[in-house]
Amino acid sequence: MAALRFGIVGGGFISAFHLRALREVRDVEVVGLVSRTPPVKLAEFVQQNNLGSGRIFDRVRDMLPHVDVVAIFAPNFTRLAIVEEIVAAVRGGTRLKGLICEKPLARNLAEARKMVELVESVRLPNAYFENQVHMKTIQAARTQLAPVIAAMGVPTLTRSWEEHAGPHNAWFWDPVRQGGGVMSDMGCHCLAVGWYTLTPPGRPPTFLVPQQVSADLALLKWGQPRWRQELAERYGVDYERTPAEDFATGMVTYCNPETGQKVKGQFSVSWMYDKQGLRLALDALGPGYAIDMNTLRSPLELFIGDAAAASLTDSELALEKSQASCGLLAVQANEPDLYGYTDENADAVAAFRDDRPPLLDWRYGVEIVRLTMAAYLSAERRATVDLTDRSTCAALESYIPLIQQGLGRQVL
Ligand SMILES: NC(=O)c1ccc[n+]([C@@H]2O[C@H](COP(=O)([O-])OP(=O)(O)OC[C@H]3O[C@@H](n4cnc5c(N)ncnc54)[C@H](O)[C@@H]3O)[C@@H](O)[C@H]2O)c1
Repeated sequence: MAALRFGIVGGGFISAFHLRALREVRDVEVVGLVSRTPPVKLAEFVQQNNLGSGRIFDRVRDMLPHVDVVAIFAPNFTRLAIVEEIVAAVRGGTRLKGLICEKPLARNLAEARKMVELVESVRLPNAYFENQVHMKTIQAARTQLAPVIAAMGVPTLTRSWEEHAGPHNAWFWDPVRQGGGVMSDMGCHCLAVGWYTLTPPGRPPTFLVPQQVSADLALLKWGQPRWRQELAERYGVDYERTPAEDFATGMVTYCNPETGQKVKGQFSVSWMYDKQGLRLALDALGPGYAIDMNTLRSPLELFIGDAAAASLTDSELALEKSQASCGLLAVQANEPDLYGYTDENADAVAAFRDDRPPLLDWRYGVEIVRLTMAAYLSAERRATVDLTDRSTCAALESYIPLIQQGLGRQVL
């Protein structure tokens, strides 16, 4: 069977990660790359690793006739225009087998619904990339525990964390372009993996019905004068006038529609985790059993003393968002696989190739955006948001968080 031809839009951090992952995925070649500036380094990586021709195109529409699948890995604020361009080309006769979009699907619910409306208007198969659900650790826990869950019952509480010391590019820090702060950027991961881990095995990822969301958002580190100044100098953002949250925590209550049983997913995300580097962690408690996952635990530790540290040029080789280049370092030897990028790409390739749904599609992405919006609304109102209330649900459809509007001073 011919390999699926991937075209990637966006030439930054996540595209580099996905290319590393694609080295381990079969039946795919990377034939096209488009970015704001020519992604020369990524094209070299593609060619050096025999991943495909890795041709650089100036515009998305120029690439479309040469690919089967487009993967949108560009910043959040560029998504809708890119999808509009692709859908217009499909209406004009371009044939595609699938469209991938990185998390979050959109900055708010209206934008997310528009994304889905567009892609479904031309019946384009779509996959939403939420890597944590695909993590081998999460999947292994569910497989291993399936008979235990059948005997004892589902987990009733999950607690999930995604934390690092702050994003690597200016647009992430701009709440208007990104969609908010860490809740928009990383809350989506924890909402998804918590919901998924609570879901009975064999049921779809949206089986459990979200009932209530409560959240607390804060600007704990990057609003302090010293760190505000650093943000201004490094990224040109003003966190006195236009702040976003660097910490968010909360709780979602879900209901099993068949049994009426209530279960809860707690989430905590931060951009102020000044430890080794990125930490994804989840624990889950069921009757008589538990799950405990933490990506900072590695079978490999390195020690680099002060004298040797000067010879190290890239500490991020050890860990995403690494904060130190000496001392005792946790090293993950295959991060794309650990974080689920390899398996989410393999799932999308198989789905588009075999004409079956992927594990997560854009409609699922909309549900995650809805929970994210409910979290912002809860923090603004300082009250629990009731998703069983029709008028609240209607309000969420057009709701734009104050932080996303650039008015974060009113709430942080
Ligand atoms: N799953 C994860 O854990 C994870 C991690 C990082 C980023 N992401 C997501 O991936 C997306 C990209 O993030 P990133 O870290 O790669 O950002 P980045 O800033 O590192 O890279 C973005 C790239 O897109 C390019 N670009 C900007 N505007 C564009 C346009 N209109 N058309 C095409 N390219 C354009 C930029 O030049 C840059 O190369 C974001 O939506 C982010 O939320 C997901």
